[in-house]
Amino acid sequence: MALNIILLGPPGAGKGTQASRLVEERGMVQLSTGDMLRAAVAAGTEIGLKAKAVMAAGELVSDEIVDGILSARLDEDDIGRGFILDGYPRTAVQAASLDRLLAAKGLKLHHVIELEVDEDALVDRITGRFTCARCNTPYHDRYKLPQTPGVCDVCGSTEFKRRPDDNEEAVRTRMAEYRAKTAPILPHYQAQGIVRRVDGMATVDEVSAAIGAILDG
Ligand code: AP5
Repeated sequence: MALNIILLGPPGAGKGTQASRLVEERGMVQLSTGDMLRAAVAAGTEIGLKAKAVMAAGELVSDEIVDGILSARLDEDDIGRGFILDGYPRTAVQAASLDRLLAAKGLKLHHVIELEVDEDALVDRITGRFTCARCNTPYHDRYKLPQTPGVCDVCGSTEFKRRPDDNEEAVRTRMAEYRAKTAPILPHYQAQGIVRRVDGMATVDEVSAAIGAILDG
């Protein structure tokens, strides 16, 4: 059966990392509103122009914009493979919109997986990360440098990039936004009995195994 899940957790909790693994290992579809917004910024669309400065400051983009892009994405054919919501919903308004969207499209949510993490460690995780500009392979200043300095292990590119919101000030704002606006939506899903907790401070493999056990359980 195709499963539809939400990965919930503060910035740097590992939502994107785990979603990528679920895409590779289970053929699920990753729905990252952050990636969708970054693509809009890169393409210079109207939405991208509105979102650019808000994202760079670490604040949330308006519910109206995000609900609109998510709704359109849920209409695509691949959704039937099962999807992972990564970074959505992030506010009570978005959670209510998601309920309406899923009901209208005849879709069900099976699990909300909360990655429990230590926020101070996350600042270190996020401010050190960078990716290959060509193939997006992730690296980290302290934990995972390319084997040959300055050369991507996977594609050989010598160009790398960092997200404009991965500086300490924006990361602190993103965390405050999470505590104030996103964490409060958990009770909405607890009331439905679908929240599962995973230790996000474990290794990437251990977190993957814990999520896999929930999906197979
Ligand atoms: P978004 O792109 O969703 O970013 P985020 O929530 O801040 O999360 P990150 O992508 O930073 O972290 P992650 O949890 O995916 O961690 P990752 O796997 O990369 O949103 C960006 C912005 O877009 C928002 O601030 C907002 O402006 C806007 N936006 C997006 N959605 C929105 C919405 N719904 N409403 C309004 N605005 C919205 O891992 C981080 C690092 O840790 C990596 O280096 C990774 O290699 C490493 N790592 C991961 N797991 C582990 C582990 N277990 N052990 C050690 N290292 C690990």
